[in-house]
Amino acid sequence: MYFPEYRARRTRRNNNIRRMVRETFLRVDDMIYPMFSAFGENVKSEIPSMPGIYQQSIDNIVIEAREVYELGIPAVILFGIPECKDAMGTDAYCDTGIIQETIRAIKKEVPELTVITDVCMCEYTDHGHCGVIKDGDVDNDETLKLLTAEALSHAQAGADIVAPSDMMDGRIAAIRAVLDDNDFSHIPIMSYSVKYCSAYYGPFREAADSTPQFGDRRSYQMDPANRQEAFREAALDVDECADFLMVKPALAYLDIIRDIKERFDLPLVAYNVSGEYSMVKAAAEKGWIDYDRVMMETLIGMKRAGADIIITYHAKDAAKILNAE
Ligand code: PBG
Ligand code: ZN
Repeated sequence: MYFPEYRARRTRRNNNIRRMVRETFLRVDDMIYPMFSAFGENVKSEIPSMPGIYQQSIDNIVIEAREVYELGIPAVILFGIPECKDAMGTDAYCDTGIIQETIRAIKKEVPELTVITDVCMCEYTDHGHCGVIKDGDVDNDETLKLLTAEALSHAQAGADIVAPSDMMDGRIAAIRAVLDDNDFSHIPIMSYSVKYCSAYYGPFREAADSTPQFGDRRSYQMDPANRQEAFREAALDVDECADFLMVKPALAYLDIIRDIKERFDLPLVAYNVSGEYSMVKAAAEKGWIDYDRVMMETLIGMKRAGADIIITYHAKDAAKILNAE
């Protein structure tokens, strides 16, 4: 049926009809809020390239965690900035490490909030790479030993979900085995399955103080040009018993989100990364775009592409809008 009998505008005529035919929804339940935990007391320093996002000491993290919970956001994902870094990233798997202490503080003060932890070495190593260095590159199998120790230590501290972001081969199976052997068979693994080597992580590396001191991450993170490889990565993670899959970044990879959603039946997470947040904030500060509208359009686009859940620095801003509706 074609014009003039069929007129597409008929179902856009007023807000009630538009509400009735709306296909995709963003809910507060869909969002995870990232937080950066730093050593010290009464620390709250804004990340220059990420307005509204802070490196905070545990006392302040707990205050923001409560605010997040009260907005109805179900979960936070934690990143740690340790006091000291070394070649083996010791703080990552130390029971008194920055993240372990942060988990315990949040679970004590805001027990209903789900705490997800980023499992990786780059925030804890002095060279800034996501694993152990051997002959100038990250050694996969040696790194697995540290990642499993880190994931276990997070679970022991009370983490509800662990999220490995390192991109080593075999990490999901290795972490699953160690968790299961230690009575943590109920703790889900949210795998950063399809993680591209992206310049959009720039502001995060400033926030987490995790820029590689030599070289780059191309020998472990994926080439932005590749799509088939994303299916292989996701299939491996499904095989290794991941509970959630993730595509990261989100905005330049909406096609990959759609592809993974169509091919796999696990809950799919999109990571709306730091650079994506910074661009929207910067343009809004210049008065060039309407922040609220561009933010909501971006997030609904990710859901429409197939994301079930979105990790986003916008979570609090978006929740305030959704809760007011
Ligand atoms: C750690 C990690 C990174 C991000 C999440 N976990 C950075 C990286 O891989 O360099 C990026 C998040 C963001 O940019 O918001 N491996
Ligand atoms: Zn890393």
